[in-house]
Amino acid sequence: MSDRLDDFVQELQEKIFQEARETYGDTVYERWLNPLYMGELKNYNGYSRLRGQCGDTIEIFLKFEKGRVIEASFKTDGCGASTACGSFATEMAIGKTPDELLEITGEAVLNRAGGLPQEDKHCAVLAAGSLQDALEDYMRKKESCHHADAFD
Ligand code: FES
Repeated sequence: MSDRLDDFVQELQEKIFQEARETYGDTVYERWLNPLYMGELKNYNGYSRLRGQCGDTIEIFLKFEKGRVIEASFKTDGCGASTACGSFATEMAIGKTPDELLEITGEAVLNRAGGLPQEDKHCAVLAAGSLQDALEDYMRKKESCHHADAFD
C-alpha cells in the first residue's frame, strides 16, 4: 500500500473509533474493545443461547458451586454493544447466588454500561435475558438431579 493510502486508512479507522466512543460512551467502548470472560466455559452447569429480535444471539455459561456463580462467560455473534453487554452481564454474575442473579435485569446491565443509545438498548436486554435463561437452566437441572449435592 502506498503511504498515502496507509494514512487514509488509518485516519478513517481513527474516525470510526472516535465516533463509536462518542456514540456509546467510554464504558461501553472500552469493554467492546477489551471484553472480559468471552468464550466458552468448560464444566458449566447453567447455559443459555438466546436470539434477539435483531437476529443476534448471546450465549451465557455459568458454573455454580456451593450455591454461587464461581465462573461465567459469554459468546455473541452480535454487535459491539452486545459484546460489551455480554461482558457486563457475566462480570455482574460472578459471585452471585440465584436470588441475587434475578436482580440482573436489562435495566441493571444498562446502568452498568452507563446507558446506551435508544436503538441499542435491546442489546442489554438480550444479555440479561440470556443470563436469566442460563439461571433457569441451572435451576431446572438442579431440581431434576437426584444427586442434588452435585449442584451445591
Ligand atoms: Fe443485536 Fe446488538 S444489535 S444484539
